[in-house]
Amino acid sequence: MGHTPEQDFVLSGGPGTSVHSARSGYLPVPLRCVPHTALKEIAIYLRNRAEAGTASESAGFTLYRDADVPFTAEDRERLLASGRHFIYVRIADQVRYRAQTERAVADAVEDPRLAVAEKSAIVYETSVELVNELLTEPDLVAYSGRVEGLSRSISTLVLNDPQAFSHLFAASHHDFYTATHMVNVATWIVPLAHALGYRAMDQLLQICQAGLLHDIGKVFVAEEVLNLKGRLSDEQWQLIKQHPIRGWTHLKSFAGIPTLVHDVCRQHHERLDGSGYPDGLAGDAIAHVSRICAVVDSFDAMTALRPFKQRSLAVADAVLELRAGVPHWYDAEIVDAWVQLLRGVHDADFRPATAGARAVPAPKPEGAERRRNKRYKCDCPARVNPLVRTADGGLHEKPGIQVTIHSLSSFGLGFLSPRALEVSRPVRVYLQAGTWAGRFVHGLVARCRAYRDSWFEIGVELYRDDPDGFEV
Ligand SMILES: [Fe+2]
Repeated sequence: MGHTPEQDFVLSGGPGTSVHSARSGYLPVPLRCVPHTALKEIAIYLRNRAEAGTASESAGFTLYRDADVPFTAEDRERLLASGRHFIYVRIADQVRYRAQTERAVADAVEDPRLAVAEKSAIVYETSVELVNELLTEPDLVAYSGRVEGLSRSISTLVLNDPQAFSHLFAASHHDFYTATHMVNVATWIVPLAHALGYRAMDQLLQICQAGLLHDIGKVFVAEEVLNLKGRLSDEQWQLIKQHPIRGWTHLKSFAGIPTLVHDVCRQHHERLDGSGYPDGLAGDAIAHVSRICAVVDSFDAMTALRPFKQRSLAVADAVLELRAGVPHWYDAEIVDAWVQLLRGVHDADFRPATAGARAVPAPKPEGAERRRNKRYKCDCPARVNPLVRTADGGLHEKPGIQVTIHSLSSFGLGFLSPRALEVSRPVRVYLQAGTWAGRFVHGLVARCRAYRDSWFEIGVELYRDDPDGFEV
């Protein structure tokens, strides 16, 4: 049997004791994501690589370092250089390993020898492990010290390094399991709050804890409902909507949890216009940090791969969606600060805020006659769906674009669009806010002109005899 370089390395790097054991007896530890000091007095194993021509998984593990031999940073580098990405510890050592990891994370974030990317990966993965445990047994008496410790590490990382966000963002997973979602929100909300002026460690610490715990109420929602494929029934949706209150009630049952953490847990699905849940709070009645949480929470929900969605949105599309939610759902200032952070990561423009659907001048009047119709400037979110004629002469509605209507009259409406719409194309426009919420109107695209920053200014002439039409 020929040795792969890794097998040679195992034989030269440790005692080489072959261990045949069930796979489940070992916990995989991603090498990049654990500080080497976390492995003090813990035996480390390597998984045997499959021999050529056999199944890809080999059942055995080989002892690499006994518990009394220190595992060093150099060991880690050598393993990584040899193509190893995981080491293994016995399940029996799991509790000690986790406790040591969390203690070591605090030192790692202050360690000048470690790159920020590495610190970010360590903090991120350790947080996911902790939240996974927390979701299994949400006893905050046991976990509050650990949640605070990791929150302090995340906050320190952000306070010490202006580039921390891009590394934390790069370290994040997009699977929308509850644990990774909570850690995404926690590791994104701190840099965003920092950018918005929260600079004190005490504030950031609480904000981070709020991020880590905001969805704790999902523990009380059945997993089948959370991960359901396909559309949710009304009943299932009602169950999911209970999670802010269930979480808040749970947090309230423990002493010493900051009020801000309670607020964010309860309010992160509230929206500025009062259309959110569970309390229908509006404007300043929603705590500022809850409004910050709403933006990163929504962004993760849009971009994550979820079991019940066909596809996730690209970052640029999610930015457009967030912008379309200003000002009725989200604060403009918060969305702008978030987009600014994302620009640093993606080196992309995301179409500057000046082209956003808010604060847009109404199109110039096209003749005095038009002026006779009462015309309103507004910021009404709407979905515009093109209609196409089918072979049998009917009209088929295609998925459209989310826009913000800036002017509205009984005869027409105007909005900026990220893409062109064909003149004379029939459209159905679903209005989503104010007294028009839930209504739709029909019309034809009457004009489509290039606007600045690659947007299009679009006018729709409404059908006069539309049975669904209404007086504005
Ligand atoms: Fe939530």
